[in-house]
Amino acid sequence: MVSKTMDEIVSLCKRRGFIFQSNDIYGGIKGLYDYGPMGVELKNNLKQSWWKSMIYERDDIEGIDASILTAPDVLKYSGHEDTFSDPLLDCKNCKSRWTVDQLVNHSCPNCKSKDLTDPRPFNLMFKTSIGPIEDGSTFAYLRPETAQQIFTNFKNVLDSTNRILPFGIAQIGKAFRNEITPRNFIFRVREFEQMELEFFVEPGSDDEWHKYWVDSRYNWWLDQGIAKERLELYEVKKNELSHYSKATIDIMYNFPHGKEELEGIANRTDFDLGSHTKNQEDFNISSNVINNTKSTTKLIVQNLKNKNWFVPYVIEPSAGVERGVLALLNEAYTVDEKNSRIVLALKPHLSPIKAAVIPLKRNNDELVNQAKILKRKLQKIGLGRVILENSGNIGKNYRRHDEIGTPLCITVDFETLENKSVTIRDRDTMQQKRLNLDELKNYYEKYFE
Ligand code: GAP
Repeated sequence: MVSKTMDEIVSLCKRRGFIFQSNDIYGGIKGLYDYGPMGVELKNNLKQSWWKSMIYERDDIEGIDASILTAPDVLKYSGHEDTFSDPLLDCKNCKSRWTVDQLVNHSCPNCKSKDLTDPRPFNLMFKTSIGPIEDGSTFAYLRPETAQQIFTNFKNVLDSTNRILPFGIAQIGKAFRNEITPRNFIFRVREFEQMELEFFVEPGSDDEWHKYWVDSRYNWWLDQGIAKERLELYEVKKNELSHYSKATIDIMYNFPHGKEELEGIANRTDFDLGSHTKNQEDFNISSNVINNTKSTTKLIVQNLKNKNWFVPYVIEPSAGVERGVLALLNEAYTVDEKNSRIVLALKPHLSPIKAAVIPLKRNNDELVNQAKILKRKLQKIGLGRVILENSGNIGKNYRRHDEIGTPLCITVDFETLENKSVTIRDRDTMQQKRLNLDELKNYYEKYFE
């Protein structure tokens, strides 16, 4: 594979409507990005593929969609108020503020002074006030991970579905972190989406389930078209583990800026349900949790053999949607030097546009009408967006659709009017073949099977 730079990916994203700097016309805000017409489709396709694999193709996971604004107590007992921070220090000379890893030779990167304050923790959670009075008495956090509302809904889901262990609750949604140094395009941002599964298991079976989910998630990324040689499993060192984790394996990906975390799979033991449960003292919780005086609900299940009630353990695969999108773009971006084109060789299920229907001549009513009928017919099949490309320049259309990753271009020409056939062009091979209209639906459905 010809290697590509982050700049090339950023440029394609802007040029073809995948990703834009947010608030751009007012100068932008660092660490925020907007998804354009192609980006929103790619992102939705990735999320849908995850949802399908978690909820529809399995029999042991339920989905939820919880609120973003989160009561402070949730994030107090989860440990985030105390521990979800990065150390920051100030330069006493020029008053600039830095993280420890930004320092150059233990000096301020701006003025080179060594006169620095000691590092102090800076909490990464965003706060907002609830209600009309902004006196700080009623505030909420914007959730820093989607996981916590899965734990707070544990009993609701259990009671409404009659699940028994092992089972999972999955959620896709926004998370917010006031990252001190957002960087590397959409890799580290302040507003992003997570695809998180909390899989509840019996204590003692947790190591086995942890391994199971590492394998399962690794293989899922391969199925999305990520090449093995750019993926690696990394066992997080004991002293680097998050406060809730007994063991974490990160799936690392070789991004254009270097090898970094794409997804983490953590064994969170009984920390979470143990932190949020009522009557903690009754359940022999193994994790070091804050004494909870506020929870109204016991987050426990019954052992069906010995009838004892206990707090389940949880295995958590947590993937970032933005990092997934960046990895997919990096994988798919292909420079086809022989044919002087850029191709986004995405797997068809992830392509923003499934097919482009192109009338050969823009102003020919008969061709355009036939193309419109075909577009509607393919759109109705419901496999994703089909587009009518009515700009008249067939060569330019092919190039554009190569760059946004459209696997099929269907051209309606004068032969279509005579003998009811169209040409289908394949994105990767550029080969074209003629197909009768009555075979098209079948061909299209088979292609995306
Ligand atoms: N619930 C566990 C959790 O949130 P995490 O390792 O902090 O764990 C999980 O985050 C995933 O979320 C990461 O693997 C990454 O893909 C994504 N992520 C975290 N912070 C991010 C950020 N600032 N920008 C983009 N994605 C981020």
